[in-house]
Amino acid sequence: MSAWIEVKAWFDQAPEDWSPWIDAFDRFGCPGTLQTDQPPTLSGFFPELEGAREQAECLKRELVRIGAREATSTVVPEEDWAELWKQHFKPRRIGQRLVVRPSWEEYDAAPGDVEIVLDPGQAFGTGEHPTTRLCLELLEALELQGKSVADVGCGSGILAVAAVKLGAARVLATDLDLLAVEVAKENAGRNGVSFECFVAEGMTELAGQRWDVVLSNIISATLIRLAPGVPEHLVPGGCWIVSGIIENNWPDVLAAAERAGLKLERHLAEDGWVAATFRL
Ligand SMILES: C[S@@+](CC[C@H](N)C(=O)[O-])C[C@H]1O[C@@H](n2cnc3c(N)ncnc32)[C@H](O)[C@@H]1O
Repeated sequence: MSAWIEVKAWFDQAPEDWSPWIDAFDRFGCPGTLQTDQPPTLSGFFPELEGAREQAECLKRELVRIGAREATSTVVPEEDWAELWKQHFKPRRIGQRLVVRPSWEEYDAAPGDVEIVLDPGQAFGTGEHPTTRLCLELLEALELQGKSVADVGCGSGILAVAAVKLGAARVLATDLDLLAVEVAKENAGRNGVSFECFVAEGMTELAGQRWDVVLSNIISATLIRLAPGVPEHLVPGGCWIVSGIIENNWPDVLAAAERAGLKLERHLAEDGWVAATFRL
């Protein structure tokens, strides 16, 4: 039976902006976090593999360094971990029509609802995180009927599934993490949709292809690095939707996109995170 190491940051008062701590978990390899308000805590989980304990110790030190009162770690058996996620991950309405439903939950969809059924496994992307929600809102606002969409950094495949269900004719999902690609393929099956999905770094595999929409919910530094190459992957008038940007980094991402010749069309913010739609 496999197990997980739970690292938990404890706070005297719930931070107004959780993003520095969520970002720290992400940097140390825990993309999904669980938050509680009473008491204020934030947890992430490492599969108990070689090196995980050392990684957990480094993360604990970093959490305290950036302001958590203390950070603890415990070993959580697989079945308890699955139960924890199930308690936290509930059906959630996003934007006008989208509903993200965990595969183990029931939900009475309203007429016109677009349902995304998910089991995120270890991959990022449940709709619980603002960066995913903001991306979905920006995506839903575009006319996708018959369009082509590339999701670079697909995680659980949540955005790619949404793109197909919102009418896109061709969808490609890539991630540098093999596990994410496997989870995304499973989630495609769960939703009865299909899209191309494979391991790739950045936009390398998009070479020579132009898309109506490119989605990138990845950290700011990667977005800034990718920005100069984006226009060559967009059709004229195509969109680049970016997310995963901590508010302080937004001016640098905006400047990089504008230098690449992209025009800001829409900008959304939630809990210290920014997402935006740029148009070529
Ligand atoms: C924040 S998650 C987003 C997941 C999902 N698209 C969502 O919106 O919830 C970022 C994903 O991008 C992947 N990623 C990070 N850097 C990447 C890169 N340079 N190229 C491709 N994928 C990358 C990570 O493995 C992770 O699955």
